[in-house]
Amino acid sequence: MLASTTLSLLALVAAAQAHVGIYAPGMYCKGGSDPTKDDSNTNTVVNPLYNLAKADWWFQHDRGCDKVPPPEGEFLEIPAGGSFTVEAVHNRAFSTLSYDGKLATAWPDGKEHPEDWNGFETDPREGCIQDGGALHVQNKGNATGTAWAISYESDISKVTMENLAVFSVLEHTPWKRLATYQVPAAMPACPPGGCTCAWLWVPKGCGQPNMYMQGFKCKVTRATSTAPIAAAVPPTYCKDDKTKCTKGAKQMIAWNQAEGKNVFPPNGVSPAYNEAWGWKN
Ligand SMILES: *[C@@H]1O[C@H](CO)[C@@H](O)[C@H](O)[C@H]1NC(C)=O
Repeated sequence: MLASTTLSLLALVAAAQAHVGIYAPGMYCKGGSDPTKDDSNTNTVVNPLYNLAKADWWFQHDRGCDKVPPPEGEFLEIPAGGSFTVEAVHNRAFSTLSYDGKLATAWPDGKEHPEDWNGFETDPREGCIQDGGALHVQNKGNATGTAWAISYESDISKVTMENLAVFSVLEHTPWKRLATYQVPAAMPACPPGGCTCAWLWVPKGCGQPNMYMQGFKCKVTRATSTAPIAAAVPPTYCKDDKTKCTKGAKQMIAWNQAEGKNVFPPNGVSPAYNEAWGWKN
């Protein structure tokens, strides 16, 4: 019985176009975009944002996710000076948030892959990984990097580009299911209703040039600093000249949408959460 259930689940999951999203405590749309249901086999938050109006891409309003918060009191915990681990998957089914983690593997798609997983042989053109094309990538080295940003507003409707600051990036992700992000020690505590966080990714190549912005209710634990985070300003491309990097709190990257673009890289350069844009792990 379990085997056949698992098989039909896999079939369902395979039918859906897969990308990568984070399944973790505090997330919006954990069970899909219908607040009356708790779908264990959903990829609502995983689907990318492309060519949308600002009001639609902002916290996945296009699919209603900004209106489906986590249960009261559930937060993603961000330990100041520590780290936190989340699951990057193609579908909730492949995370430990579904089916007691029975379909979860070391990889985002619930399958097994070699450590040096790459698409160089299967895609002679761009070298993209095909079966997990959702990763938008050739191999780990080409993974552009993902990030987290925080706003000290508890109410998601009060979050702006300026009060949402990137606080952690992880180079060469998304890659495996588990991703561990370091947290700066100087993060102050959140207001009683918590903070609002966003998970962020701008892939490069291997499919539609989209972006990802996913909403979470979060709170900073073990905070000792009381200094507020400065207003965030757009990042700048500084690969060849570190003096050109934006100093201090940086905004998320808004890219390949109909509205809201905040970065202006040289021709042919795709913006990303990595050193070329002033971010270090
Ligand atoms: C990135 O992918 C290209 C092929 O598109 C490959 O030649 C290159 O070695 C990869 N880079 C890294 C750092 O692995």
